[in-house]
Amino acid sequence: MNDKPTYLQVQNVSKVFGQFTALQGISFSAARGEFISILGPSGCGKTTLLRVIAGLERQTRGTVFIEGRDVSAFPVSRRKVGIVFQSYALFPNLTARENIAYGLKRQGKPRSAVNAHVDELLDLVGLGGMGRKHPAQLSGGQQQRVALARAIAVAPDLLLLDEPLSALDAKVRQKLRGEIRQLQQRLGITTIMVTHDQEEALTMADRILVIEQGRLAQDGTPHEIYDKPASPFVANFIGTMNFIEGATKIDNGLYGIGNTRLRISGENGSSRLPAGCRVTLAIRPEDILLQGDPAAPNRLNARVAGMEYRGSLFRIDLCLPNATHGAGTLTAEVPTHAVRHLAITPDTNLPVYLPVDRLRVYANEGVQVRI
Ligand SMILES: Nc1ncnc2c1ncn2[C@@H]1O[C@H](COP(=O)(O)OP(=O)(O)OP(=O)(O)O)[C@@H](O)[C@H]1O
Ligand SMILES: [Mg+2]
Repeated sequence: MNDKPTYLQVQNVSKVFGQFTALQGISFSAARGEFISILGPSGCGKTTLLRVIAGLERQTRGTVFIEGRDVSAFPVSRRKVGIVFQSYALFPNLTARENIAYGLKRQGKPRSAVNAHVDELLDLVGLGGMGRKHPAQLSGGQQQRVALARAIAVAPDLLLLDEPLSALDAKVRQKLRGEIRQLQQRLGITTIMVTHDQEEALTMADRILVIEQGRLAQDGTPHEIYDKPASPFVANFIGTMNFIEGATKIDNGLYGIGNTRLRISGENGSSRLPAGCRVTLAIRPEDILLQGDPAAPNRLNARVAGMEYRGSLFRIDLCLPNATHGAGTLTAEVPTHAVRHLAITPDTNLPVYLPVDRLRVYANEGVQVRI
């Protein structure tokens, strides 16, 4: 998407409510047609950021640009945005048709054109024939579709979605996810979707912004965010991560925990840490291997302390008797066929491999990285 021109640019935006800083120095940009997800725990500032972009809230500091133009002082009506709010807020006394037509009528479009367009939109969101129902007569998923149709009716250049699927059950959610993505791609609308559902962000977005207490913790593709989380917070928020505390840097690519030595390739900035520095190592459960070349590095002896069956895989708790300083247990996710093949049962002793290219290194807090 990098070859597309920038549509939206948010530069150093902060928002303060009284004594409380809800957003702090947020900067990112969105290319035209890009789908960006804003992900973070409850209260981290997602809705506030969306409202600032929409023009519903004025930032305390910083600038919002649309197509290179500073729109910070522009009201919502001048920003060409379509919005689906967190509670999708349909007008209860209007039918689905009337809800969708609302913005079009306000634009002063002739009635026949509005009617034809609303028919198209109803079809587009899979609600053909349901136009006469009131919101109370529609299911949650159907109401969500009406909200979406209402937002795209005015042909926005920017679509802002605030947890549009949060009220729905898993099945409907999954279906609508795919439909929203398809629709967004077909119409080519730059879209920013707030969610606190990691799976939603990973499956739908071109890029994810992770927010932690009003600050941007990471901006990257779903792959980058999952594979190379910038901090333990991001690593923990998206997917699960084993943390091995209390390790010490011995040299570039070599770390120690007690008597155990671990080799790590492809370090993230940790090559700048001085030897002797305390670090936290991390590895995803699915990256821990239970078979491999006996001569491979990072081969540890472990005991199976617990097994949890998950259908296609097992979650296996591994106790590392030789390791010290909190590296005592790791959780691995192992495909069920591999568990069967290796005849793994509780209390089995087995070798565990931590692939050199799958371990991450995080400087412990307070450690200054020397540049
Ligand atoms: N108008 C306001 N006045 C004072 N504080 C506010 C206001 N709006 C939001 N906040 C505070 O700012 C913080 C961020 O709120 P925001 O609604 O952006 O969170 P969020 O990430 O959308 O959370 P959720 O996932 O629960 O929707 C919260 O602590 C909230 O209490
Ligand atoms: Mg919110």
